[in-house]
Amino acid sequence: MGPRMQMKHTGHMIFSFFQNTFGFHLDEDKKKHLKRLLTSRIKKNGLTNEKDYLDLICSQGGKSERQFMIAAFTVGETYFYRNTNHWEALKHKIIPEIMKKKRQSSDKTLRIWSAACSSGEESYTIAIVVSESLSCYQTWDIDILATDINESSLNHARKGIYTENSFRDVCDDFKEKYFLKRKGKYKIQSHYKKMITFEPFNLINQNGFPKHYSNFDIIFCRNVLMYFSPEIAKNIMCNLYHTLNDDGYLLLGHTEGPITKDFQLKPLSFYNSIVYQKKCTGENIQSQLEPPKRNPLHQVKKNNENHHTKIENKQPRKQLSTPVRPKNYYAAALDLYSVGRIDDAQQMLNKHNENQTLSSLLLVGLIYIHKKNINAAQVIFKEAQLIYDLTAETQMFGAMIHEEMNNLQEAINGCRRAIFLDPNFFFPHFRLGEIYRQLGDQEKMKKSFKNALKNLYLDNSDRLKLFCLGFSKDFLADYLKSI
Ligand SMILES: C[S@@+](CC[C@H](N)C(=O)[O-])C[C@H]1O[C@@H](n2cnc3c(N)ncnc32)[C@H](O)[C@@H]1O
Repeated sequence: MGPRMQMKHTGHMIFSFFQNTFGFHLDEDKKKHLKRLLTSRIKKNGLTNEKDYLDLICSQGGKSERQFMIAAFTVGETYFYRNTNHWEALKHKIIPEIMKKKRQSSDKTLRIWSAACSSGEESYTIAIVVSESLSCYQTWDIDILATDINESSLNHARKGIYTENSFRDVCDDFKEKYFLKRKGKYKIQSHYKKMITFEPFNLINQNGFPKHYSNFDIIFCRNVLMYFSPEIAKNIMCNLYHTLNDDGYLLLGHTEGPITKDFQLKPLSFYNSIVYQKKCTGENIQSQLEPPKRNPLHQVKKNNENHHTKIENKQPRKQLSTPVRPKNYYAAALDLYSVGRIDDAQQMLNKHNENQTLSSLLLVGLIYIHKKNINAAQVIFKEAQLIYDLTAETQMFGAMIHEEMNNLQEAINGCRRAIFLDPNFFFPHFRLGEIYRQLGDQEKMKKSFKNALKNLYLDNSDRLKLFCLGFSKDFLADYLKSI
């Protein structure tokens, strides 16, 4: 290998080292930034080339240099009570439920992990909320572990001294109640500090997490997985999953929900936030994901009889020009639906419903919405919730029913939950835009349409076809650009 090739090779090895060891997601801009930084760091460390730098960062003595790079390439943004709804859920739902269960088995321990805690605002919020929720918390053995890869953030956390910026989402009473004011800064009361153990920890751990990272009742791992590649995030999720107790709760950042999809983590909606509960059924994951076979239209009939709801009259069956193989019935029904042959689509689903999927169930429901049979659509919604619980599509379908019924706030909440569960889902952004337009909120309308446009080409085409009644991406893009 020539010297030039050798240099290039070493550069790649440095990139790989940071990517694989710490999970830095290095796009082209960040690679350029890292390259520029390398030149100055080589000089600063008294070295002459990249090879020596690589040796340094891989060595025991390279800890401070590794920490320098970690600080340069990670985002430590955090503040007290970040995502208020999560804290409401913790206080009013999660802690009471865990405590109730533990009391029954005379277990008085509570283990919480704030993974990627940054400078500690999240960890102290946990300590405060736990002590507020549990009047007799002193008699419990409460263990709050707070970890981060960035040791300078951890030192900040251990000191527990904060400036106004960390209090951007809380009122002044909060500062006065839990902090001591010192020279314009705020120091957390020592009592809360004692509830927490801060320690360095890299979430990217090829060999699984160490033994004492286990049996957590609650894990906060918010706003960090989104910085990793999907494979790395999935590996971390696998480790987190195993450290969580059965029935334990996992709280993730707003956009990180989709990472849970291959795990037995049940999304639950509390206080307009989504939290995940570990539910080990003992079944393997794949079989859990496979929907039970049911007949949506029969279910509607049965339920409608109870609810005195009008059932769609059976339409005379039209002959389709092409014979359709069973597994393509849904696709064929969707094709019919998307060209406006609603009755034909409905008949096809009615007759061939053996392989019921969430999409085919929702198509049945969307047809009901289209035909303004909202009672029947609601029955389908209940069915979808039963079988598929919280999925972005089910939430969106629920939001559409609310919109039809003019429950706009509920519709907005449903769209938001759908976006939380899948940020790239075009349709909830689009509907939010339309709802805000109706409400005359220009700013939110523009923001939602902008997000819709951003996600239009990222979204799955079949899902778009299902929710957008056959409108093409280009048509929708032109429409959104014209607003
Ligand atoms: C945006 S902050 C999130 C802080 C807090 N969880 C919140 O939601 O407010 C992301 C944190 O993840 C940490 N981090 C990044 N990569 C990490 C890794 N491989 N292991 C552990 N922590 C990591 C960063 O140092 C940073 O403090």
